[in-house]
Amino acid sequence: MCGIVGYIGHQNAYPIILNGLRRLEYRGYDSAGIALYDGENIQMCKTKGKVDDLSAKVNAEMATAGNLGIGHTRWATHGVPNDVNSHPHVSNSGDLVIIHNGIIENYTTLKKELVKRGYTFHSDTDTEVLVNLIEEIKKQENVKLGKAVQIALNQVVGAYAIALFDRNKPDEIVVAKLGSPLAIGIGEGEFFVASDATPFIEFTNNAIYLEDGEMAIIRLGREIAVRRIANDERVDPSIHELQLNLEQIEKGGYDHFMLKEIYEQPSVIKDTYRGRLLPNEGIVRLGGLEDHLEKFANANRIIIIACGTSWHAGLVSEYIFEEWARVPVEVEYASEFRYRNPIITEKDVVIAISQSGETADTLEAVKLAKRKGAFVYGVCNVVGSSISRETHSGTYTHAGPEIGVASTKAFTTQITVLTLMALRIAKVKGTMSHSDYMMHLRELELIPTKVAQALKTNDHIKAVAREFKDVSNFLYLGRGYNFPVALEGALKLKEISYIHAEGYPAAEMKHGPIALIDENMPVVVIAVNSNHYEKVVSNIQEIKSRNGRIIAVVTEGDTTVTEIADYVMEVPKTPEALTPLVTTIPLQLLSYHIAVMLNRNVDQPRNLAKSVTVE
Ligand code: M6R
Repeated sequence: MCGIVGYIGHQNAYPIILNGLRRLEYRGYDSAGIALYDGENIQMCKTKGKVDDLSAKVNAEMATAGNLGIGHTRWATHGVPNDVNSHPHVSNSGDLVIIHNGIIENYTTLKKELVKRGYTFHSDTDTEVLVNLIEEIKKQENVKLGKAVQIALNQVVGAYAIALFDRNKPDEIVVAKLGSPLAIGIGEGEFFVASDATPFIEFTNNAIYLEDGEMAIIRLGREIAVRRIANDERVDPSIHELQLNLEQIEKGGYDHFMLKEIYEQPSVIKDTYRGRLLPNEGIVRLGGLEDHLEKFANANRIIIIACGTSWHAGLVSEYIFEEWARVPVEVEYASEFRYRNPIITEKDVVIAISQSGETADTLEAVKLAKRKGAFVYGVCNVVGSSISRETHSGTYTHAGPEIGVASTKAFTTQITVLTLMALRIAKVKGTMSHSDYMMHLRELELIPTKVAQALKTNDHIKAVAREFKDVSNFLYLGRGYNFPVALEGALKLKEISYIHAEGYPAAEMKHGPIALIDENMPVVVIAVNSNHYEKVVSNIQEIKSRNGRIIAVVTEGDTTVTEIADYVMEVPKTPEALTPLVTTIPLQLLSYHIAVMLNRNVDQPRNLAKSVTVE
């Protein structure tokens, strides 16, 4: 978490850094800061709060104060969010200025040592320790900044993406990465540094993504020098051509990114299956999968690792893989998996799902599965992200940048990729009848139209939201393929509205949660046409007999549930395995409208960050 931006070149650094911070604010937004250098004076401004609070604090003089700058937007790990703990941090001499995304785990030990040597600290952060450690090494070893950074980082335990400069080197920024992302944009006589490429896409399409354990010295008028931190080995970095455009990262007339991203789902689902799903030819083809089909076909089991919404997408695919490809699937929270010495063999295939491709627990779980000999496949959205690079092979979801902290289009595009994978593997294994296979190919192609249809009920959903915006608790129930959708619906509501919500398999209600039902408890039930329909109807009756209020997601034309429920939200008729792609739409909209009515910060809910790069 945290976003970092840096610039060195011929332009005024301030607007570039500030704009970059706004684009990275999804990564953390409890404080922000900026440092600018014109070769003589370093000017700095830091504040608790958002990037807007920072820009309000920056004075006119500072706004034109140099062609070198670094900026930070923070998600606090060490030390409460306040002005002092905000980045950048400065070394005791005042010469070195640093920004950092990550955690230095052994900072207490390092700090004690530095205190013994006379260093004083103003903040509670691990970052201030790091910048002083670099200063001390630079002094003691009489080395240049790059070398001092390298020696310091070899003493550090933890994760970092850092950028720093030295008052004595006005033409240089040093950056390094381990566990947190770092991209370097290469312009004409100028360089950009950022946690992702969005801060510099209007300036250049060329970027280097540093690998873990690499550092770079970025000096004006020179080629970027990349080295391995551990052994000083020189690295020849690859330059990537960026596929991003400005439109993708702007709100495009919507009030919030979340709403824009909900409405983008018909087109991004199509983008995700384009060229991969060919119903007329009866073909599903996924570049990353074709060379590894045998591994999947012969796998003893598939283990899916993910967190949050991506974990819910994994759960949906568990039902799909088992039904179609007849392979046992286990879906694991990456954070649990990585710490419990899991039993994995070379006959297991692991799928890691992650929108950002940077989630620390998922990344570490991938590394663990690889060490244990498993074949690891990635389903990521962010191209070039750490997980996409760490996995043996994989498929990108083509959702485009997801900026709202609450995941929406990432979820449906992940399910799209996993559905394509299950179809392809089922075909190879011969575990699905041809007619069933062909029917699902055709139906998957219709999903964007059905999602667009579901989106047309927005006004009605807004009216339902108005009825329930003031309640304190919600239950979400679903069965089979729609049990994970119930979990996802509950997660969406709690993360953006701060209303407590729980998701359950509908039949589990009798084993405890039913005790909560009374006239104040709204229960959202996914009751679309399925094998479980009658059973879900019985569950709804049980809730009604206890005066609970039912909001049901039903199939268009439904009459049975519609008669019993207090409110219904209709979705188009869809084959059961594909229903999660449509049933999730009204639940996203319901959460969105409730959060807006409660005046919550929908795109940047409290305490959260878009990509969780700390454990
Ligand atoms: O980037 P990832 O998919 O790995 O992120 C996983 C979770 O952090 C993420 O889905 C989180 O739960 C979202 N805030 C949910 O809306």
